[in-house]
Amino acid sequence: MASPEPQSDAPSEAPSEAQAARPDAPRPGLWALWREDLRSHRGEWSRPGFLSLAVYRFGVWRMGVKPKVLRAPLSLIYRFFFVRCRNVYGIELPYSAAVGRGVVIEHQGGIVVHGNTVIGDRCILRQGCTLGIRRLDQLDDAPVLEDGVALGAGCVVLGKVTLGTGCSVGANAVVLKDVPAGAVAVGIPAKVLGTP
Ligand SMILES: CC(C)(COP(=O)(O)OP(=O)(O)OC[C@H]1O[C@@H](n2cnc3c(N)ncnc32)[C@H](O)[C@@H]1OP(=O)(O)O)[C@@H](O)C(=O)NCCC(=O)NCCS
Repeated sequence: MASPEPQSDAPSEAPSEAQAARPDAPRPGLWALWREDLRSHRGEWSRPGFLSLAVYRFGVWRMGVKPKVLRAPLSLIYRFFFVRCRNVYGIELPYSAAVGRGVVIEHQGGIVVHGNTVIGDRCILRQGCTLGIRRLDQLDDAPVLEDGVALGAGCVVLGKVTLGTGCSVGANAVVLKDVPAGAVAVGIPAKVLGTP
């Protein structure tokens, strides 16, 4: 169960490792993030994953435009492209989620990200991934993916669970508990195979 609609108005890119280490460091602008996402998607600008991330970055960036009279048309543009990504590519990635740098969305279709989800740097999302809430009375409890998490096709991650750095989730797994860093979790409900 996932509610991908934005839960708050706060612009919310997850701080990268470099930014976390140096919080005063200048944050990259929209153009730099677009270029970086394009590189992560092998330079193929027509990939739905890249285009959806580009719309997401724009949605976050436009929240930094303070005069409401300027932000309103940008929000309309964002909304238009957000709906297009959802309806055409099947990728729902609302701006209120926190998405780090170098994230790759491989393929498209059935990708749903709750508005409170945190996705760290260099994570990989594949087709059919759901990152959502577990129950309707826990609307804010969304997953946290640390850096370098790889999600297999069709996996479902529910509730306030943390997927540790560099862990992998198998195709079609249903993750209901935390996964330790570096571990591989498979099955329904997902069980950890082992840690390196
Ligand atoms: C989970 C995954 C990363 C494990 O890879 P791995 O570390 O090489 O693990 P192995 O292939 O050695 O499998 C280890 C065990 O887990 C089982 N397993 C692997 N993937 C599984 C899955 N998705 N669901 C259930 N069990 C799985 C294997 O059968 C094996 O069980 P066994 O020890 O009883 O024989 C990989 O199987 C996977 O699912 N990757 C997702 C990739 C993907 O979605 N690709 C789509 C591209 S479009």
